[in-house]
Amino acid sequence: MKLLVAGGAGFIGSTFVRTFLEVNPDARVTVLDKLTYAGRRENLEGADEARLEFVEGDIRDVEVVAGAIEGCDATVNFAAESHVDRSIDSPGEFIETDVFGTYVLLEAARDAGIRHLQVSTDEVYGSIEEGSFTETSPLDPSSPYSASKAGGDLLVSAFRHTYGMDSLIVRASNNYGPRQHPEKLIPLTILNALHGDPIPVYGDGMQVRNWLFAEDFCSAIRVVLAEGEAGEVYNVGGPDELPNIDVVKAILRLAGGSEDTIEYVEDRLGHDRRYSLSSSKTEGLGWRAEVPFEEGIARTVEWYRDNPGWWEPIRSGEYREYYLAKYGRAIAD
Ligand code: NAD
Ligand code: TYD
Repeated sequence: MKLLVAGGAGFIGSTFVRTFLEVNPDARVTVLDKLTYAGRRENLEGADEARLEFVEGDIRDVEVVAGAIEGCDATVNFAAESHVDRSIDSPGEFIETDVFGTYVLLEAARDAGIRHLQVSTDEVYGSIEEGSFTETSPLDPSSPYSASKAGGDLLVSAFRHTYGMDSLIVRASNNYGPRQHPEKLIPLTILNALHGDPIPVYGDGMQVRNWLFAEDFCSAIRVVLAEGEAGEVYNVGGPDELPNIDVVKAILRLAGGSEDTIEYVEDRLGHDRRYSLSSSKTEGLGWRAEVPFEEGIARTVEWYRDNPGWWEPIRSGEYREYYLAKYGRAIAD
């Protein structure tokens, strides 16, 4: 078995590559990644290098994709622009990678006659006040990010319908864990708490997210890749739903920060109030989430505390300017 993993140098992609190679001792992986601000070659440290090939390149580049896919038995696509706030400031890159890039990968996988598993998000369903989204819920994306992901998903379904291609989709709720870029709520809060920086909470902090430990999502992807039916969608939700303010307070307790550092800031434009996802279809394939939020957040805080070598280059690089421009204040040195 040889997989092409697009976006395999990002947060979830690298977690997937490492764990996939661990549980499949005979498998090989080719990672295709453009190494944007969010992707790093060192995210793959610890993966078995003898069975890993790394191609630096863009999923929109037909020739690069054709070269990388050669000899592969399936593609798993994590490659995306993934941050809602950046999509609000600059939607174009999201449409280019998340829609057009998905199309290029799909065509290559179709021509190679192999399975394409698209990694997507619950955000394509929009916000839900009560209950949980299922795979048959209508798509109603709110942000340029989620609209672009929905566009990619619709192409995956259309390629199945039109060409009979072996394509399918997994949609996950909010992931967290080691190696997530600190533009996202959980690692941002952990690093700010470790440095005594203020913690920016959007609006009233009562927006609810359904938190999923990235290793649990990766075990679901392995199950769906092996057992999922072509043309189907599989939702993968986390075991716990929490308002953002409770997430922030839990991190402050674990990282030894003070609640006085919480700072309510201007709300995100078009902010989705609540996400909630039913995983019963994926559970029907035998998958279960194993890491409750309480355990996962403790492991995540500990990982960031123990790995300054991972985040120091980020905090001293482009992220400084991003943070200053977005939050109107500098992060601590
Ligand atoms: P990430 O931003 O950490 O990683 C994205 C990776 O894609 C990076 O390595 C980046 O270099 C690469 N990439 C971006 N544009 C590319 C291009 N044009 N060509 C090749 N590579 C490119 O994102 P993540 O959080 O690991 O998310 C991975 C996937 O999972 C995304 O598709 C995202 O939509 C989806 N997802 C994420 C979450 C979450 O909570 N993080 C939840 C559900 C679904
Ligand atoms: P985020 O991690 O960006 O993920 P998503 O937008 O995909 O859910 O944000 C998670 C929640 O945290 C979301 O409701 C927005 C909120 N948030 C803050 O309150 N402050 C912040 O600085 C950030 C980045 C997010």
